[in-house]
Amino acid sequence: MKLASIQREWWKEGVVYQIYPRSFQDSNGDGVGDLRGIINRLDYIKDLGVDIIWLNPIYSSPNDDNGYDISDYRNIMAEFGDMADFEALLAGMHERGLKVVMDLVVNHCSDEHVWFQEAKQSRDNPYYDYFHWWPAEKGTPPRRWSYFDPEANAWRYNEATNSYYLHYFAIKQPDLNWENPKLRAEIYDMMHFWFKKGIDGFRMDVITFISKHDGYPEFEEKYQGQKMIDAYAQGPRLHEYLHEMNREVLQHYDIMTVAEGPGTHTDNVLNLVDADRQELNMNYHFDHQGIGVGDRFIVNDDFQNLVKFKQVMSDWDTALADKGWNTIYFGNHDFPRMVTRWASDAPEHRRIASKMLSTYLLTMRGTPYYYMGDELGMSNIKFDNIEDYKDIMTINWYNLTKEEGGDLEQFMESHKLCARDNARTPIHWDDSAHGGFTSGTPWIQVNPNYVEVNAAAQEQDPDSELHYFRTLNQVRKNNLTLVYGAYDLLLPEHTQVYAYTRTLDEDTILVLLNFSSDSVTLNIADLGGMNMQQAQVLLNNLTELNITEGQITLAPYQAVLMR
Ligand code: GLC
Ligand code: CA
Repeated sequence: MKLASIQREWWKEGVVYQIYPRSFQDSNGDGVGDLRGIINRLDYIKDLGVDIIWLNPIYSSPNDDNGYDISDYRNIMAEFGDMADFEALLAGMHERGLKVVMDLVVNHCSDEHVWFQEAKQSRDNPYYDYFHWWPAEKGTPPRRWSYFDPEANAWRYNEATNSYYLHYFAIKQPDLNWENPKLRAEIYDMMHFWFKKGIDGFRMDVITFISKHDGYPEFEEKYQGQKMIDAYAQGPRLHEYLHEMNREVLQHYDIMTVAEGPGTHTDNVLNLVDADRQELNMNYHFDHQGIGVGDRFIVNDDFQNLVKFKQVMSDWDTALADKGWNTIYFGNHDFPRMVTRWASDAPEHRRIASKMLSTYLLTMRGTPYYYMGDELGMSNIKFDNIEDYKDIMTINWYNLTKEEGGDLEQFMESHKLCARDNARTPIHWDDSAHGGFTSGTPWIQVNPNYVEVNAAAQEQDPDSELHYFRTLNQVRKNNLTLVYGAYDLLLPEHTQVYAYTRTLDEDTILVLLNFSSDSVTLNIADLGGMNMQQAQVLLNNLTELNITEGQITLAPYQAVLMR
């Protein structure tokens, strides 16, 4: 890879840090994180060395799905603050050189949005066509699967209009009708409103679902879960709409866009992110998250299958090597804590393992999307009782499993590993009550390990996960090879070690990551021809590195960068 041939962009070189505002910092003691809380922590964020902040939805919402059900796109959720707080936050971030990316949730809104309040009254209402309806005189609507409906049925009957409205997600999240040009114009207008305030981009929630199939053809019975998701992402007008959005809005600003792309795979991603098509900049996929996880997040033996993981990540790199641009992530608000999911949260491993995973995220080709709290090595809370969960998805799936007479014990065990709430517990700032997150009662329990795992303690400890993450950001910034260099996988069949090189012009960096709890010895001859005796160690998550004649031994979860 030659630097001279690369189209450099700030959103390719930056590291994204995701903030889930509800759980970041509460400033007024109501137990809910808020914008003032984030403002109070701006220096912490800046000191991480990250570049771009992605904020989960902060718009007005009845919070049926924690803000992904928006009742007013141009206002701030009362629990989080008001527009003045938002403007102060944006200014505070910009003063520190941080870009701000907002969530754009326009596949659906809240049923409390005025559009739906109007629409549901009569078929003649001017807003009726802002949504998708199936008139009851045509009989039962063709089957559509819903993520969060208590019966998994995406159609819901509405008495006043004698019709069913479509909701791929919760009952309170009716899908917007992109087929209607008036609706599209409203959305574009709203996007301009935020760009004019100065935001730097959008992460687009389930944007691949916005185009529905004409006339709602029957899908075969096999279309459940992932099959249905893939079908939803193949709406016939998706690319027409995104291209229009680009022309009407995006191309007028220096901003970045990233699709949350359920149903995107290596064979169709370029339709979204090939720059020549003028749609979006980036996409993030779920192919790795699905390894070892089935419907309703039931876990199987492949859960930490490293060979499969390497294959998926390498295939994605290949798909985007010449056109488009990749994204790299483990955790976000929809997935478990990375250290629990991909390595080990056992007390003897958690710290080293989380540093190893951070190393992976920041040394792959593609923009890293790093989830808040992972820099502290936070781990899953693993609730024992269904009553502890707040997430509509977990609760509905539990109830469905119960009604079907399914295996509830298996469900609870799997959700200790996979439930979304594991990532939504509050950040641990210090070892005071509730980890310093709130002076009141937190909206969801704080992981009791905050006493050991917290930012204040890690600030004092030069060897901490927090300091390591800061260093890692500097190493990435100082080495464009880690941003733009070609990626070459070594030892694809190795079940414990993930090894690869990154090469830009004459520079090669070797990355060795032990994803296992064993010591592993590798033959240097298998490692891409690097001269280990002369190599410089750029970074090591341990103090030692065991190199002997011809061999290198990695300690459990060791991560090393060499050039
Ligand atoms: C996306 C969000 C998720 C939300 C869903 C419905 O997947 O990341 O949190 O529940 O869309 O909006
Ligand atoms: Ca609050």
